[in-house]
Amino acid sequence: PKPLRLGVAGVGTVGVGVLTMLRAHAERLATRCGRDVQVTAVSARDREKRRGVDLSPFEWFDDPRDLARSRDIDVFIELIGGAGDPAYSAVEAALDAGKHVVTANKALLAHHGVALAELAEARDVALKFEAAVAGGIPVVKVLRESLLGNEVARVYGILNGTSNYILTRMQHEGRAFDEVLSEAQAAGYAEADPTFDIGGQDAAHKLAILTSLAFGTQISYDSIYLEGIEQIDDVDIRSADRLGYRIKLLGVAMKTESGIEQRVHPTMVPKHTAIAEVDGVTNAITIEGDFVGDIMLVGPGAGAGPTASAVVSDITDIARGVDGAPFIVPASKLALYERAQMRAHEGG
Ligand code: HSE
Repeated sequence: PKPLRLGVAGVGTVGVGVLTMLRAHAERLATRCGRDVQVTAVSARDREKRRGVDLSPFEWFDDPRDLARSRDIDVFIELIGGAGDPAYSAVEAALDAGKHVVTANKALLAHHGVALAELAEARDVALKFEAAVAGGIPVVKVLRESLLGNEVARVYGILNGTSNYILTRMQHEGRAFDEVLSEAQAAGYAEADPTFDIGGQDAAHKLAILTSLAFGTQISYDSIYLEGIEQIDDVDIRSADRLGYRIKLLGVAMKTESGIEQRVHPTMVPKHTAIAEVDGVTNAITIEGDFVGDIMLVGPGAGAGPTASAVVSDITDIARGVDGAPFIVPASKLALYERAQMRAHEGG
C-alpha cells in the first residue's frame, strides 16, 4: 500500500510532540497500520526558530494554506490554534481540496465545527479532533464509538489542565496565582493566550464539542454559561477546605426538561471524592450513560506527549481506513438526531 503522507501546520509544543512521536514510532505505526506513515511537509510562522527537531527533511511552506492544498500530502494536520485565520482558512482549504484533516484546535471547532463538518461531509473526507478535548484522554473516541448506543444524561469534568494545575498548587502549596500560572506556561500546558485557560473559555470550547458528541446536537458555544477562576483566591480555597470541599473548574452538560444545559464555572466538590482528588494538569471526565452507568476517564489533559498521542491516534485511524461514527453533527444528518434545544444556564 501507498504511504500516508502528512502535512503538519504549526510546529509549537504540540507540533514538536507529533513529529517526535511519529519518528520514534515509525516502525510500530507502519506495522500496526499496514502502511508507512510519513510527514512530507510542514509549515510554521518562523522557519529559523530553534525547536529541537530537524525540519530539514520536509518540504517547507510559509503559508499553511499552501500546505493545505499541496499535492504532496493526503492528510492536513492543523496544530496552529485559534478560531480565526490562518487556522480556519487553512482547514477549509484542506477539506475543500479533498484532504483529510486532523486538528487539535478546540476553539476552531467550538466556533466553526458545524460548517467544517459539512464541508468534510460534502468532500467525503475525515475531520478528526481527538486532541481537541482533554489532551491525551481518548474521550472523543469513547463518545463517538464506544458509547454510541447509550443515551447520555450528563457529561462533566475537569477540562482545562492549566487551571487545575493552578488550583492544585494554590491548594496544596499555598502558592500565588501568578507564580503557578507562569509555571504552567513554562511547562507548555497553557494556551498561547492564557486568559483562555483561566477565564474558562478553553474548558468551554471543549465542553461545546463534548456536548455535541454526547447528545447528538449541533455545537453551541454561545449558549454556555461561563465563569473562570480569575476571582478565586487563597481565602476561597481555605474556606472551602474548612467546609470539606475542593474548588475545581468544572464543565457540565446535562439534559434538563427544557433542553441541554451547558456551564463552566468554579465548583465546590466534596473532598475525598474521585474528582476532588484529580490534581495538577490531569483532566477527568465523567459520562453517565443509560446502560453503561457512570464512566470516569482520567489522564493528562495537556502537554506535548499526551496531545501528540491523541493526534497520532487520529492519524492511525485514517491510515487504517476507519473513521467511526459521524463527527460533529452536520446539518444533513441532523434529522437523524434528537433536536435538543440548547439553552444558556439562566441566573448563574
Ligand atoms: N491549555 C490547555 C489546558 C491545553 O491547559 O488544558 C490542552 O487543551
